[in-house]
Amino acid sequence: MAFLEGVKVTKRFGGLAAILDLSFKIDQGGIIGLIGPNGAGKTTLLNLISGSLTPTTGEILFKGKRISGLRPHQICKKGIARTFQSVKLFGNITVSENILLGSVYGKPRGLSRTNHSTETSDLLKFLGLAGKRDVLAKDLNIVEQKFVELARALATKPDLLLLDELIAGLNPSETSLACDKIKEIKKKGITIFMVEHVMGVIMSLSDRVIVLNHGEKIADGTPEEISRDRKVIETYLGEDSEC
Ligand SMILES: Nc1ncnc2c1ncn2[C@@H]1O[C@H](COP(=O)(O)OP(=O)(O)OP(=O)(O)O)[C@@H](O)[C@H]1O
Ligand SMILES: [Mg+2]
Repeated sequence: MAFLEGVKVTKRFGGLAAILDLSFKIDQGGIIGLIGPNGAGKTTLLNLISGSLTPTTGEILFKGKRISGLRPHQICKKGIARTFQSVKLFGNITVSENILLGSVYGKPRGLSRTNHSTETSDLLKFLGLAGKRDVLAKDLNIVEQKFVELARALATKPDLLLLDELIAGLNPSETSLACDKIKEIKKKGITIFMVEHVMGVIMSLSDRVIVLNHGEKIADGTPEEISRDRKVIETYLGEDSEC
């Protein structure tokens, strides 16, 4: 049984097939990169997995059970959390309250209020946000907001974490910090499915890479295999790629 499986998934928006007859399997553990040109369907696929969208046809299974058709909060409680390409925080509450919401509304664990607060504090420390705990989310810069969104996702205690361009817009030192955190999250046993355009990051972090183009899978393999794949070079990486 695959940890996460898509079976002939198609998502149409009117006449456009954003995802077309896509089948894939992901095992538990490790980091899987999802790459492809703008408009390839990467965010749509994460939306389908997390329940923001429902497939037009096909189905998605998590730990052997169908999740497509469930609401996002139901899927979250089953152990799938995500961040968004455009950050979506609750701007008028504090950083720690945003993270606490993840802890309370994530996977049910019967924790006391004190334990939820302790978890929140631990995540604030883990992501270097302790000094910002009482700041309103809307008053943070975009990089801080991305880290809060990551903390909120982790607070739900996911088994699978979906990251949609977490690194985009980060400077080199922030990128390096984010990569270290992603590696630490992997070590905690959380499977990561991450969309990125920053090839150096995706190729160094990923155990496996899936490539989409026009909603279809055009390649699936190790970073080394992907960087040598003729179709991927022609449609996405380019001939002068350093990957
Ligand atoms: N809600 C929607 N309604 C209509 N079309 C949509 C919707 N969401 C996505 N699309 C279209 O589906 C296609 C895939 O979009 P998607 O956002 O999944 O691409 P992407 O691979 O994430 O691109 P990017 O790298 O630019 O983020 C695009 O043509 C997009 O315009
Ligand atoms: Mg996208």
